[in-house]
Amino acid sequence: MRVYVESYGCQMNVADADLMRGVMHEAGIGPADGPGDADVILVNTCAVREHAEERVFGRLTQLLAYKHKNPNVLLGVTGCMAEHLKERILDRVPFMDLVVGPDAYRRLPDLVREAGFGDPRVDVRLDKDEVYDGLSRAPQAGGITGFVTVQRGCDKFCTFCVVPFTRGRERGVSPREVLRQVRAMAEAGYREVTLLGQTVNSYRYEEASFADLLRVVAQVPGIERIRFTSPYPVDFDDALITVLAEVPEVMPFVHLPVQSGADSVLDRMRRGHTIDEYRELVGKLRDRVPGLALSTDIIVGFSGETEAEFAATVALLEEIRYDSAFLFKYSERDLAKAAKALPDDVPESVKGQRLRQVIELQEATSRAVYASRVGAQVQVLVTGPSKKAPADLTGRARDFKTTIVRDSADRLSPGDRVTATVTGASGHTLIAEATGSTRARR
Ligand code: 5AD
Repeated sequence: MRVYVESYGCQMNVADADLMRGVMHEAGIGPADGPGDADVILVNTCAVREHAEERVFGRLTQLLAYKHKNPNVLLGVTGCMAEHLKERILDRVPFMDLVVGPDAYRRLPDLVREAGFGDPRVDVRLDKDEVYDGLSRAPQAGGITGFVTVQRGCDKFCTFCVVPFTRGRERGVSPREVLRQVRAMAEAGYREVTLLGQTVNSYRYEEASFADLLRVVAQVPGIERIRFTSPYPVDFDDALITVLAEVPEVMPFVHLPVQSGADSVLDRMRRGHTIDEYRELVGKLRDRVPGLALSTDIIVGFSGETEAEFAATVALLEEIRYDSAFLFKYSERDLAKAAKALPDDVPESVKGQRLRQVIELQEATSRAVYASRVGAQVQVLVTGPSKKAPADLTGRARDFKTTIVRDSADRLSPGDRVTATVTGASGHTLIAEATGSTRARR
């Protein structure tokens, strides 16, 4: 038997898909190249916005074609949407064989076997202790950058957000287990690891804080670069800022979701901080971490958002000038607190108009920020050929900017770390010419 896993949503889902492949592999179910040659097709899903769920419903209907071709094919939904909708998924897509929540992946092989007898299997039990210790994530041959989940679940209960309900309570993975996974990746040739958690810097395991964890991961031989996502502003302490400032392996990039520029909206969202506090944090980060890049998440049209509150978000974007931003329209989620207490009362047309306005603003800012890098030297970890021009290579600069490296002499290969001079930029990509030393992968 072979399994195909397709992922939607956050980076933890990408890591979870690897985890599922690993669990299946250990049960003798190998990876398929695509849905066409799979016996089990799993769609790993996101529930954060209605739009994400609608896309998945569309995709599941498409994938049904593989079941028509071969009735023995099993089709499953895993992840947050499975947890959110539970057996109700079967009302919309009755042809599903598996509905599996984020804490049930160890049981996947059993569920697959049972579903083979014909009845759909639903397992959406949450487990406050499950962190998938000891499971081999099967690093991929030739991999250069990868994810390690260091924390699962979320305890913040922002009023807009469904994640605490779909992923359960926050728990940290032991530093020992994190190190085991990072070392396995390093041995497989990986050069960069991104530590993942819903509020990753709230990480705690016994006496160990997130800053402590970063320091020990930075010492793993072979790992040159460490990133993390996503931090929660309130828990961004000085110890973590110091790690960013002092540990050269920790890259100068912080994705720091703010959600809104208005204190009153942050209060309704229960974010636990004010804009002044956020501004102070950004100031400290920029002072202490040279070359720091920042990105954020913004929700427009949250419950009761007035013109003045929205204007405060626009003003904040203009003030901070993020390198990039993810911008969303508020989408009411039935399990989240806002659905019970705060009306989804900003008209769809106003949400759309506000979203267009912030997108336009951010695009202009990103273009200017990226253009300001022309002439600078960047250090790029090459990850593969460029999609648009396969003769060139693509990778990321230390500050996470995607960078195309011109390689006319054909010297570079994935895994190399190269110093390059930026010669051009769009709002999302730098173009650079290899100028300095290249450190080959092995
Ligand atoms: N509606 C819109 N955006 C949301 N996000 C989370 N929940 C919602 C929602 N109900 C956004 C937040 C978060 C990002 C991952 O998704 O900006 O930081």
